[in-house]
Amino acid sequence: MKSIKFLTILSILFAFSVTLNSQDQYILLGWNDLGMHCANRYFSKVVVLPPYNNIYAQLIKKSPGMLPQVISAGYKIEYSIPGNTYSVGKTDFWTYAQQIFGLPNPLPQNIGLTGKGLTGELDNSGNYFKADGIPVTPFQDNNLISENPYQLFHLVAKNSATNTVLTYTDNVIPVSNEIGCVQSGCHSSEQSILNGHESVPGFNTNGPVLCASCHGSAALGTTGDTIEAKKLSFRIHDKHKFITPTNSIATCYKCHPGPNTQCLRDVMNQNFSMTCQNCHGTMQTVANSIQQGRRPWLDEPSCGSISCHGSNYAEEPGKLFRLSKGHGGLFCSSCHGSPHAIVPSRVSNDNLQNMRLQGHIGTLSDCLVCHSTPPSGPGPHGIMYSGISNINNQIPEKFKLYQNYPNPFNPSTKIKFDIRAKSGREHVTMKVYNILGNEVATLVNEELSSGTYEAVWNAENFSSGTYFCIIRTGNYIETNRMVLMK
Ligand code: HEC
Ligand code: HEC
Ligand code: HEC
Ligand code: HEC
Ligand code: HEC
Repeated sequence: MKSIKFLTILSILFAFSVTLNSQDQYILLGWNDLGMHCANRYFSKVVVLPPYNNIYAQLIKKSPGMLPQVISAGYKIEYSIPGNTYSVGKTDFWTYAQQIFGLPNPLPQNIGLTGKGLTGELDNSGNYFKADGIPVTPFQDNNLISENPYQLFHLVAKNSATNTVLTYTDNVIPVSNEIGCVQSGCHSSEQSILNGHESVPGFNTNGPVLCASCHGSAALGTTGDTIEAKKLSFRIHDKHKFITPTNSIATCYKCHPGPNTQCLRDVMNQNFSMTCQNCHGTMQTVANSIQQGRRPWLDEPSCGSISCHGSNYAEEPGKLFRLSKGHGGLFCSSCHGSPHAIVPSRVSNDNLQNMRLQGHIGTLSDCLVCHSTPPSGPGPHGIMYSGISNINNQIPEKFKLYQNYPNPFNPSTKIKFDIRAKSGREHVTMKVYNILGNEVATLVNEELSSGTYEAVWNAENFSSGTYFCIIRTGNYIETNRMVLMK
């Protein structure tokens, strides 16, 4: 008896000392590189894309009194796809893979082209981890009939030496078999597509035929025959540019997944009704731009172009969004999500990670998710820690911005405002502009519930003059004139 009690006390003490020593927290951010990965389901005839998915992750250590640290050496990240443990039989890829890709040996069952399976470890790639070529299908083990294009992957971060679990996360591994040549009702069969190439010398009309073997595609790393066959993206969009209406998303969904999947689900589509053509142009533009030198897959639209968000929100020079990093060496996607799935997304699984970390959906914007103390300098895109405080929880009569006080001020001033949220919470922004109309600070950028709040602007690093504080929420906008006198 005694010894058991003693052991219990000892283990309590031990547990206590462990918690005392480990005030470090870990934040794991995982995402898919593209907002969607299409793949063929059947490979005996027309082959556009194999099952091939990519997961990225970054691990952040949050220690008391220190800046957040992006860590990788000495840590490992394991991945799995809950409810989806095998792929053989959900697609006939493994029957044809060796022949299609000219592999020296047959591909092991359930292993993809790069040697990855449906579970495993991400590779350490510097300040991030990634796994390329996960051969996932859209079919969960318990439903081999309906596609589930927005399944979750599960990541677990561990200390490599001790194998201690540090933290975990879940995010979407998007995959769809909705490549619609026949499904869309356009072609009678895949064979009929192959028959169209009868006159091309050396063409195997029986299949399987990898289109990218002659028509170069950066998606598969093929150059193909650049003179006769030309790029796949050029051929496919040029050949089908007659599809109408040219400006409808339904046109792109004939081949890109698709009427069921609706791969475009991001904030720009949901809140601003943007469609494929707003960013990529019509089929004709996609094709013609290649003739004029655009490299398919490598030259794509960018957030930072002048007609979109401008240089303060730009990718790294010459880099794609999915390969660019911003604040603190973090990938754009780590806070914003994948292309075409930029959060807040229509699909709740896309929103899960940020919801768990900061308690509301949308961009990862809460500085204190990663920072152990309120940062005093500017964060992503120059956004300042707002440090706003809720000074009254009563629901105010209406939305209102009060005059800042003191005013004139030096160096800091307080700005009080009332929020009356229509549906629980409302997105509120409060920004400061100089007399030329340039944005100089963001004081508030978050979802707030009804109540009275107070924001503080510390203008220590600004020069004397007149500034305007503009608050926006829903349809409301109000402005304050503030005078900094040093
Ligand atoms: C053996 C090489 C080869 C393969 C494999 C191949 N193509 Fe082609 N393809 C060509 C050549 C060469 C041309 C251009 C000659 C022509 O216009 O007939 C062409 C032309 C095309 C065109 C334009 C035809 C037109 O009428 O304008 C399309 C569309 C096309 N290919 C799609 C595909 C698709 C889809 C696949 C996969 C099922 C594929 N190709 C596989 C060699 C190939
Ligand atoms: C007839 C089928 C089809 C339709 C319709 C279609 N696409 Fe595609 N698209 C493809 C295929 C196949 C690829 C893959 C090409 C490759 O592997 O290089 C592709 C690739 C792309 C790419 C990446 C390659 C590049 O050129 O940068 C973009 C962007 C794209 N499509 C945009 C669109 C948009 C926008 C629409 C609607 C206006 C559209 N597509 C409609 C079949 C289609
Ligand atoms: C708000 C702008 C926007 C809209 C709307 C949009 N795209 Fe894109 N698209 C992009 C950007 C930006 C990239 C480049 C992503 C990157 O750099 O990682 C891209 C890349 C692509 C690619 C190449 C693969 C990839 O993900 O990088 C394809 C294919 C594509 N888009 C198809 C489509 C289709 C089809 C639609 C409509 C269903 C669509 N896009 C709607 C901005 C957009
Ligand atoms: C540490 C997190 C973080 C990283 C990393 C990050 N951003 Fe942001 N981004 C934000 C926050 C917070 C906002 C504020 C608006 C919001 O809540 O969406 C924002 C806003 C934006 C906007 C919308 C601006 C507008 O006009 O509303 C764009 C575009 C953008 N970021 C692009 C990028 C690009 C490109 C990268 C990579 C080079 C990147 N971001 C990296 C956090 C981040
Ligand atoms: C997703 C995690 C994350 C979020 C959210 C985040 N940061 Fe950071 N921040 C980092 C990392 C990582 C660093 C890099 C620390 C280093 O340089 O070692 C950093 C560095 C900084 C620095 C120091 C920059 C320097 O090197 O001088 C400041 C200031 C800062 N962040 C402010 C903010 C503010 C303000 C916000 C909220 C608006 C914010 N951060 C949100 C992860 C984050």
